[in-house]
Amino acid sequence: MEVKPDIKSESEAPAVSSAPRSPRIHGRYKGPTGDFCCVPGCTNSRGKCNRMGKQVSFYTFPRDSKRLKMWLDRIRLDVLSEDGHLVPFTPKNHHRVCSEHFVGGKKVDHPNSEAYVPSEFPRNAVRKRTTKRSLEAGLAVQVVTKKQKKATAELAPKGRPPFSVKYRFPLPFLGPVPIVYSAPTDHTYINLPSVMSQGVVMETCTCTAPVNMAVIKYWGKRHKDLVLPLNSSISATLDQKQLRTKTTVAISPSFEDDRLWLNGIEERVDTVRIQNLLAELRQRSIEQQSCPQEWFSWKLHVCSENNFPTAAGLASSAAGYACLAFSLAVLYRLRGDISDIARRGSGSACRSMYGGFVIWDKGTKADGTDSIARQLYPETHWPELHILILVVSDQKKHTCSTAGMEVTVETSSLMKQRIRLVPDRIKEMTSAIEKRDFHKFAELTMKDSNQLHAVCLDSYPPISYMTDVSRQIVHMVHEYNKLKGQNKVAYTFDAGPNACLYLIEEDVAEVVSLVTHFFPPIGPTEEFYTGLPTGSVALDQFQVIASQINLPKQPGAIKYVIHTKPGPGPCVLTKKVDSLLDISGHPKYDTRGEPKSVTTDQ
Ligand code: PMV
Repeated sequence: MEVKPDIKSESEAPAVSSAPRSPRIHGRYKGPTGDFCCVPGCTNSRGKCNRMGKQVSFYTFPRDSKRLKMWLDRIRLDVLSEDGHLVPFTPKNHHRVCSEHFVGGKKVDHPNSEAYVPSEFPRNAVRKRTTKRSLEAGLAVQVVTKKQKKATAELAPKGRPPFSVKYRFPLPFLGPVPIVYSAPTDHTYINLPSVMSQGVVMETCTCTAPVNMAVIKYWGKRHKDLVLPLNSSISATLDQKQLRTKTTVAISPSFEDDRLWLNGIEERVDTVRIQNLLAELRQRSIEQQSCPQEWFSWKLHVCSENNFPTAAGLASSAAGYACLAFSLAVLYRLRGDISDIARRGSGSACRSMYGGFVIWDKGTKADGTDSIARQLYPETHWPELHILILVVSDQKKHTCSTAGMEVTVETSSLMKQRIRLVPDRIKEMTSAIEKRDFHKFAELTMKDSNQLHAVCLDSYPPISYMTDVSRQIVHMVHEYNKLKGQNKVAYTFDAGPNACLYLIEEDVAEVVSLVTHFFPPIGPTEEFYTGLPTGSVALDQFQVIASQINLPKQPGAIKYVIHTKPGPGPCVLTKKVDSLLDISGHPKYDTRGEPKSVTTDQ
């Protein structure tokens, strides 16, 4: 690719990417000429003077990775993909930043200098985005002059957006200071729409977050208020296509109170968990000066829904608090890891901030700053690993995990033994996942689940989350593994009776047949299985296995089965239609998920 000589460009060569050409970041891109400054809102181009009549210089992006990151963190150029994920911006040969964005009007190469990185940006940045999504989401409005229309009608190839189209934020954009959200696996730079309802501003954001299922369990706190665990834990994040929480958060000067709706029902916001999470989030936001001051005096509306039973041992609190923390972090434009903020709502929620296989390090610091989650491996690491969730009950559990943990820590002597054992188990589990050693992974998963429920029973008074059906599932799995001569399936139970089975994709059909055989559905089989297709096995092959397992049939004991696999971390949804709140900031849907009334925003 030919690059025009750049007289004032720095000695460092530009960062060249082999990645496909990034989407046009804004309307002025006219090819690989280096004639334009790529800072959003900057209109400087080579040969022209700036508004003060001064000549500007154009710099390429630095090659030094640290410095490059600093530049990119400031000049927000990443775009959102159609599915709400970040498409990071990679500078190419032709991308330039003009001298106007450096203190003193000139780039300085000394790291101590203020002008080492760009820091001056147009106040009312006209953010131009080329994604269809940004238009649909109301992130930008299309501004097309008559002249442009005519020109593009002649020039633009059919079916493609004309390249001279401009996009303008409907309300003054916060400014080009980068809005960085450090999600588990990537950095998300988000621009959010300011929604106008009868002239009143409402800032809003809608996100989804996944459920995670621990294979080394968290049970017991060393600090109640900070939600610090006694042991580290490991989980797999489940695919959001099957299990997820969706949350819309909104702030507005027109709201009179903080309010929260969960699955269509208004819930209290003054709980310790929510207040702790909000306090931590606001504190972080103040420290980072991530949003306008007045936002802290505005009240908050939150609307959240799950696509799976709430509080029945399916880690709904993990997904719920992860989604709340994530949505608010995006709304308040927080930077850096926020798994510790999610942790303040519910310990296991911190693991839902990451996709794939996740560890929550217990940390040793008294203030809990090192008690954070991190990704061990992405969801693509072990594509053959699948998960079956056997829903035994979708009723609320008797003893919530917080109360259960307290009793266990206070009364169980077995718990002390567990705390000594877990560190080695964490190492073994990490290695089993790394090697994709299913036999070992299954053994550790089952042993850890058994130990969790053993310490619960060892508590005084005893806590029992598993039911007879849960125990029959355990028996079925062990019998099956024995017949196969190795671990083919692993069960694990959280604070509820529902079983989570880990298994390899090729065994799904046989195990599903086994489940249907011993726990036949009362209703139609099609409704019994949800999620990924389960496949089927030859009847005679399966009957030989089933006949060797000594277990009575229990029709209707399992309500339904969800077939899923490991999936990614939280996502941002930018379409207006995804919002759970209408333009007045109230829930769009009732408890049955039906639209409440016709809203005017879509
Ligand atoms: O996040 P909490 O406070 O609801 O605790 C949940 C603990 C278990 O789900 C039982 C185990 C785990 O590690 O997820």
